[in-house]
Amino acid sequence: MKILENHNLKKYNTLAVDCRCDQFAEIKSLADLEALPKDIKITEMLIMGCGSNILFTEDLHRFVVRFKPRKHITVVDGLVVAWAGTPWNDLVNWAVDKNLGGIENLALIPGLVGAAPFQNIGAYGTELQDSLVWVEVYNWHTGMYHRLSNEECMFSYRHSIFKYHDQPWIISRIGLDLRADSPINISYTPLQEKFINSKTQPTFKQVAQAVTEIRQSKLPDPYELPNAGSFFKNPVIESQIAKRIQRRFKDLPLFKNKHSDEEKTSAAWLLEQCGFKGHREGDAGFYDEHALILVNHGDASGQDLLRMTKMAKRAVKIKFGIELEEEVRVL
Ligand code: EPU
Repeated sequence: MKILENHNLKKYNTLAVDCRCDQFAEIKSLADLEALPKDIKITEMLIMGCGSNILFTEDLHRFVVRFKPRKHITVVDGLVVAWAGTPWNDLVNWAVDKNLGGIENLALIPGLVGAAPFQNIGAYGTELQDSLVWVEVYNWHTGMYHRLSNEECMFSYRHSIFKYHDQPWIISRIGLDLRADSPINISYTPLQEKFINSKTQPTFKQVAQAVTEIRQSKLPDPYELPNAGSFFKNPVIESQIAKRIQRRFKDLPLFKNKHSDEEKTSAAWLLEQCGFKGHREGDAGFYDEHALILVNHGDASGQDLLRMTKMAKRAVKIKFGIELEEEVRVL
């Protein structure tokens, strides 16, 4: 494993922001993990996959560890075990090709397997936590591996224990329970529409294909138009407050939370109402087909992009009284 100094990260983040880090190492195997210096402080370390959920706003005085994309999937004791460096969508394709269900709704989500537990990736009514059994972490201070159960990961909407960044952990592998008899979930309206004329229940592979088509039709390919997916989380608001806001804004979309007296609303809708859909200043802007996607049209700096997101947050706060929270990690 080579350690590079003053390395440029532009090609390693999907917002294509020019940024340098003090030290950089690429991980291809467990042996590379074990070769990392043990004395790096937690606050001085940054672990990256594809950089598809990160906004760099300044040069990093950190040691950046980047997993080199490499597919490695095995079956152990009936569980599907994937190496952290496996591209997430390769895992989805591997599973549906073997007629194993559970993650087909998560097709085409960018990023690597090791990043998936961080924000409990989710789409079209499914979240990683629905099929994840354990996460294996490597502790770079002690050189030991630990397994965290699903419960220990403390998953919730786009959240997990890993977001606290208070342990010297690097996710090395995950174990998933994927099954041939896993229930098909096409409850989300755009998915339902895809299968409206089919008489039989779709296969996992057909669901993954449908999700892929929906995503391709509304989300820009980060390698053509640099972006980091949804920039903000969908706000979850106490029901009473949500209903009060809806009295003023009749079209405010609200989705009842199954587990609490709360409603989820659409950050994209809020941003669109504030005029941010397609809004652009210099090379920083929001996608013209989907207001939740921050895009870099060329040479926007991290600071340009950050300014745009702050403006959007302020506008939503003033118009609706709702505080948007970043989904993307801002550094
Ligand atoms: N909408 C607008 N304006 C827009 C786009 C959407 O008003 O420009 C409204 C529409 O009413 C639409 C609703 O927002 O019905 C929801 O939009 P969409 O179906 O595109 O989903 P989303 O809430 O914006 C979430 C996830 C996505 C995930 C999709 C599908 C978050 C923050 N985002 O987006 O995840 O793919 O649902 O399940 O939860 C990601 O996390 O990076 C991501 C892309």
